[in-house]
Amino acid sequence: MKGLVLAGGSGTRLRPLTHTGAKQLVPVANRPVLFYVMDNLVDAGIEEIGVIIAPETGGEIRDALGDGSAFGARFTFIEQDRPSGLAHAVATARDYLGDSDFVMYLGDNLIGTKIKDSVDTFRNDPSLSAWVMLKEVPNPSQFGVAKIDDDGKVVGLVEKPADPPSNLALVGIYMFRPSVFEAISQIEPSARGELEITDAIQKVIDLGGTCRFAHVTSWWLDTGKKDDMLLANDTVLDDWLEGCIEGDVDEESQIVGRVRIEAGASVTRSTVRGPAIIGAGAQIVDSRIGPFTTIGKEVVVDHSRIDHSVVMEASSISGIPRLEDSLIGKRVKVGPSAARHGGLSLMVGDDCIIESPQ
Ligand code: DAU
Repeated sequence: MKGLVLAGGSGTRLRPLTHTGAKQLVPVANRPVLFYVMDNLVDAGIEEIGVIIAPETGGEIRDALGDGSAFGARFTFIEQDRPSGLAHAVATARDYLGDSDFVMYLGDNLIGTKIKDSVDTFRNDPSLSAWVMLKEVPNPSQFGVAKIDDDGKVVGLVEKPADPPSNLALVGIYMFRPSVFEAISQIEPSARGELEITDAIQKVIDLGGTCRFAHVTSWWLDTGKKDDMLLANDTVLDDWLEGCIEGDVDEESQIVGRVRIEAGASVTRSTVRGPAIIGAGAQIVDSRIGPFTTIGKEVVVDHSRIDHSVVMEASSISGIPRLEDSLIGKRVKVGPSAARHGGLSLMVGDDCIIESPQ
């Protein structure tokens, strides 16, 4: 069985962080979301993985992933010339997939459960044409939604319906046989102009195929927006972080709870309260960090307090009494104002949000 990871698309929802980068590479607990996707596929025994990339961001996805050996896999990059939908991405990978069954995994989906059991069930039951993963959500209109029968079969699917037939959202993990290509060839673009994978699965069913599902009971996070990103960071730190100290911590500092201090990082006269990560080469001086905070590599923090936040690589935070619930991109400087009247002095890119203390 092969894997097909979708890391294309245009990524407009996480602006400004994705003005300059692919949304699948946004870090959660200092690792790109896409890396957790690859871990989950490899854990399920899938080592031949095609990666759909967009012309604009494909280069950085390739650079981040490499050839796959670091994950115990072999990656093949497939360029999709425009973001014309998830089913269009599958059709683009047709030559790569050949006559193999495959798992399709959206590169921005993060779930707290392994997919191995689902992969094994699908692999061993030739009566199944497709497999999806469903989770109850409070806002089904924002997702693909499935209708199921008493026998555990999926009987209908619809993309982002105004009037959802159930509260079961399609998680971005699907399994198919090569029969899906015939179904894709028979569907038309949706109202948003995309070839929808939900329509393709509906067509598989209409053509007589059987689609079953796994019920996802763990957390599932779409990392598209700021609050989702902070929640993803909190959740991954809470569930998966193992404490370990590879960097330097001086005698005047205190480390409390599960904290990872990566190689080359230094903590001086500071307190780090877990769960928290201090990235490689970061410097924390006279500060309080955490809980639920990820500090990226080469970040410098001095005389500041930061909690429930993500600070990405090579940024600096200096003399800030309290920074909370914040998502700070790369190479950002936050520090005391040098403005003549002591006011806020900003140089901020498009689509940023600044909330000053009341
Ligand atoms: O997250 C789950 C949802 O993902 C499902 O419930 C929906 O049924 C499914 O259509 C999808 O909805 P989104 O609107 O969230 O999909 P999005 O456009 O964000 O694309 C998902 C991923 O696939 C993302 O990593 C970008 C990539 N992609 C997207 C398109 C449209 C491609 O690689 N090529 C594409 O053409």
